[in-house]
Amino acid sequence: MEFVNSRKDDLPDLRVNIGSLKIANPVMTASGTFGYAREFENLMNLHRLGAVIVKGISLYPRAGNPPPRIVETACGMLNSIGLQNVGVDRFISEKMAYLAELNIPVIVNILGDSLAEYQEITTRLCGVPGVAGIEVNISCPNVKKGGVAFGTDPSMAAAVTEAVKERADVPVMVKLSPNVSDIALVARAVEDSGADSISLINTLIGMAVDLKTRRPVLANVIGGLSGPAIKPVALRMVYQVASVVSIPVIGIGGIETAEDALEFMLAGATAIQIGTASFVNPRASEEVVEGIGNYVISEKLPSVRDIIGQLSVDLQ
Ligand SMILES: Cc1cc2nc3c(=O)[nH]c(=O)nc-3n(C[C@H](O)[C@H](O)[C@H](O)COP(=O)(O)O)c2cc1C
Repeated sequence: MEFVNSRKDDLPDLRVNIGSLKIANPVMTASGTFGYAREFENLMNLHRLGAVIVKGISLYPRAGNPPPRIVETACGMLNSIGLQNVGVDRFISEKMAYLAELNIPVIVNILGDSLAEYQEITTRLCGVPGVAGIEVNISCPNVKKGGVAFGTDPSMAAAVTEAVKERADVPVMVKLSPNVSDIALVARAVEDSGADSISLINTLIGMAVDLKTRRPVLANVIGGLSGPAIKPVALRMVYQVASVVSIPVIGIGGIETAEDALEFMLAGATAIQIGTASFVNPRASEEVVEGIGNYVISEKLPSVRDIIGQLSVDLQ
């Protein structure tokens, strides 16, 4: 696909609504791949982003897993960072002032070991200036249920959603794990429990082996697979979820270019997130915004909203 150069006199309408959250364009940064945004301030124009989603925040600081915790794979990467972060209190006192001044919507990704932890983080985020939304990472082990991830069980996913919604004073986006047999079931459970939107997918569980040492490459043995390798799986899941829920769906997984982003939007995504691509090209998200704009102009669309869910499917 050829994109025309952007024209200043004819700015494309890229605005989308994630429920009550109105954003200037459909491009967000994926949690854990963009730090707390400041890390990218000299690498790109942060103001071009539709929204920033920050690294996952827990109730207390976490050191994460021992290294090695990142390895490149065919068309992607595996990570076992182990949700390292500064904890909610330091996040609010040290990171939020900078983020609030950016004047772009900031969505805080949260994680917990228990429903009580998810609720406590949500409570502490209430009223914090600049927080425009919460993204709930449910791909976390439920300590009380023997370490089974909340996101792999529809009833546990529903319980986390309800718990966070009970306390939140901003829209709640629930981020689904792809490591399930029926993603539509989890999506419906989360929607029924009050989620304002759904984002997917988080990483797929994978593993790498070093033939010379005969050891796993990652110290944690297994890790999360991301990047272009997972795009077809993510696209399929976004399509399936968008077909069964009526709340906005945000597509994530291997998106590197505007073409990738537009494919997710055709499949039903209202917005998208850029993850691993930012490691390869720190300007990836900005370039995707520009490319989507050029597409809207070249296709003479009134707005980017006109392509959401417009995939033609002929099932015999
Ligand atoms: C290094 C790394 C750290 C991540 N940390 C988080 C996190 O803290 N919370 C979360 O919900 N997702 C996290 N993710 C998942 C991404 O946000 C995204 O869902 C996933 O990587 C798929 O998108 P991509 O293929 O564009 O990277 C992380 C991914 C990577 C690669």
